[in-house]
Amino acid sequence: MSFITIKNVSKYFPKILKPAVDQLSLSIEKGEIITLLGPSGCGKTTTLRMIAGFEQPSDGLISIDGNTVFLDGRSVPPEKRGIGMVFQDYALFPHLTIEKNVMFGLVKWTTKEKKARAKEVLELVGLEEYGSRYPNELSGGQQQRVALARALAPRPHVILMDEPFSNLDAGLREKMRFDVTAILRKAETTAIIVTHDQKDAFAVSDRVVVMKEGIVQQIATPKEMYRCPRNCFVAQFVGKTNLLTGTLCPDLKHVDTEIGRICLPNQLSEDIGNVKVSIRPEGCRMSEEGRYTGQVQRVTYSGEYQEVFVQLQSEDATINPIIIYANVEQDIEVGSVISFNITPELVALVD
Ligand SMILES: Nc1ncnc2c1ncn2[C@@H]1O[C@H](COP(=O)(O)OP(=O)(O)O)[C@@H](O)[C@H]1O
Ligand SMILES: [Mg+2]
Repeated sequence: MSFITIKNVSKYFPKILKPAVDQLSLSIEKGEIITLLGPSGCGKTTTLRMIAGFEQPSDGLISIDGNTVFLDGRSVPPEKRGIGMVFQDYALFPHLTIEKNVMFGLVKWTTKEKKARAKEVLELVGLEEYGSRYPNELSGGQQQRVALARALAPRPHVILMDEPFSNLDAGLREKMRFDVTAILRKAETTAIIVTHDQKDAFAVSDRVVVMKEGIVQQIATPKEMYRCPRNCFVAQFVGKTNLLTGTLCPDLKHVDTEIGRICLPNQLSEDIGNVKVSIRPEGCRMSEEGRYTGQVQRVTYSGEYQEVFVQLQSEDATINPIIIYANVEQDIEVGSVISFNITPELVALVD
């Protein structure tokens, strides 16, 4: 059995027909960092709250470190589940020093043990010098590290974090993604993080769970998720993509689409006829003798790359421009004709 098991968990709120979480199953190994990713309202927070024990599932099973914490309406209270929660607004006690904040959850510990543990976790988050300060004397990033230290102090089985990066501005956000992951790794703790931001999810987690309307769409490593999105929703929610429709060729290795024949990363085992194909912009490389040719309609410069919208020639006038990424040093003029190739590794069939 996995370290954390969530099996067929659903949540119906009173008077609402559609479940907020629908038959969610997920197994998590010890030490894994998992993110729940999806648009607002898809059931991420509800899932986290059910794992924490703040919300009762309508159905299903949850077990943490071998202990069943929810089954058949029987529920272990949050304080007995061995979870450490980090809230979005950190929820530090303003009238307590950092040290006292961190010691707060250590009930039944002696004062000496509490002080030693507080020192240890403040060292872990790099704030050993700040024990005697108050929360309002710390920056946002430091407050978040205190919240994490407080959650880690009682040595919980799992750390739960709801939108930990959404209160931070862009620069600090990137740093905190790195810091939080480093701290969780060093503490060798298991963590479940909720975010609506794909970059957050990819930067911090071993595996990502994409949800939509309470239903899990895909569970995969960031790389798998990006290269092989299972359906159109995942393909579009996780990064940008070109979606085309086509027909599988008899060799089961190519698809004929409105822009021409496209090579798949691997041969299929059965003919599934009409298909949808996702092609990542990074998979489209400009090349002088490229297989696909079209006219540049628009170029957006992002600093890291250029997003080039290429209108391909076709008898079918409704064909959407293909988005490709080009290096920033290339001069690409609107109206010019360019050609490109498609890397099969960034092509995926989607539902
Ligand atoms: N206490 C509640 N009562 C009724 N509906 C709720 C309650 N909490 C959440 N919901 C609904 O459940 C759905 C999922 O919410 P939530 O888990 O907060 O989504 P997310 O965290 O992904 O934004 C939403 O439609 C939300 O309105
Ligand atoms: Mg939420």
